[in-house]
Amino acid sequence: MKKFNNKVAAITGAASGIGRMLAVNLAVKGCEVAISDIDARGLEKTAEMVEKQKGKVSIHEVDVAQRDQVEKYAANVVKQHGRVDMIINNAGVAVAQSVDDVSYEDFEWLFGINFWGVVYGVKAFLPYLQKQPEGHIVNISSVNGFITWPNHAPYCASKFAVKGFTETLWQELRNTNIRVSCVQPGGIKTNIARNTRFYKSPGNQMTHEQSIDAFDKMAGTSADKAAGIIISGMLKNKRRILVGPDAYVLDGLTRLFPVKFVGWFAAMVGRE
Ligand SMILES: NC(=O)c1ccc[n+]([C@@H]2O[C@H](COP(=O)([O-])OP(=O)(O)OC[C@H]3O[C@@H](n4cnc5c(N)ncnc54)[C@H](O)[C@@H]3O)[C@@H](O)[C@H]2O)c1
Repeated sequence: MKKFNNKVAAITGAASGIGRMLAVNLAVKGCEVAISDIDARGLEKTAEMVEKQKGKVSIHEVDVAQRDQVEKYAANVVKQHGRVDMIINNAGVAVAQSVDDVSYEDFEWLFGINFWGVVYGVKAFLPYLQKQPEGHIVNISSVNGFITWPNHAPYCASKFAVKGFTETLWQELRNTNIRVSCVQPGGIKTNIARNTRFYKSPGNQMTHEQSIDAFDKMAGTSADKAAGIIISGMLKNKRRILVGPDAYVLDGLTRLFPVKFVGWFAAMVGRE
């Protein structure tokens, strides 16, 4: 995306964290934002923040795991704004439990949002983006799209899947008017740990509160800073946007020690 002025961005999961700050920061750059989430109150708060920046905003209650809702979202954005230039597939959730113990219900819930939500977002918005001189698809993966983390198999699998899906999409669209970026943030201070479906299990002795504390200490980048980095990556049409110094360190370590690092990381986070 060369510039954001007078463009329209649809953002999922925009009632909190990175999605909220993407909406605010894009509005500051003159972009209209069509924000969506399942959290209606959170969306209202994001809309207030956008309007404070004199931004134009529309609100859409959408569960990204429901294909029909995402398809209606795309049509409604175009109806209300006259066009759409960007889709940022950001909504995401986590489950903390071992593979042994995790229920299929939680596994499928997470995949419905983190993976299928991204697929639905891409397929629903693509035909509209193709009508614009320039379009941009931004899918939020994670450092867990290249490093694994004990007790987070569903999350890691979903974020590896988003990376694979997004890179393939980039290959298919590389000679078209649509840019594609895969975002891989490190620890960002948001509500993600609070919103995690957290379970104590033999391999996972922390309480939810302890894990939230540990996450807050580890997450070194604010959501505002993360949004700034993503937007600047979009302006440079980067295929891969790493967010935060920890993301760069982890990327370097996995390149240097692709096999050994898996064991070191397990030991470091307390599961040998
Ligand atoms: N915070 C981090 O450290 C971090 C690191 C790497 C990647 N990410 C990714 O960044 C993205 C944003 O997460 P965040 O950290 O801002 O978390 P967050 O919990 O603050 O925000 C996530 C938003 O997604 C929404 N959401 C949940 N289920 C939904 C559904 N079914 N339909 C629509 N919206 C739904 C939530 O209501 C919430 O507003 C996620 O994809 C997450 O996996 C976060």
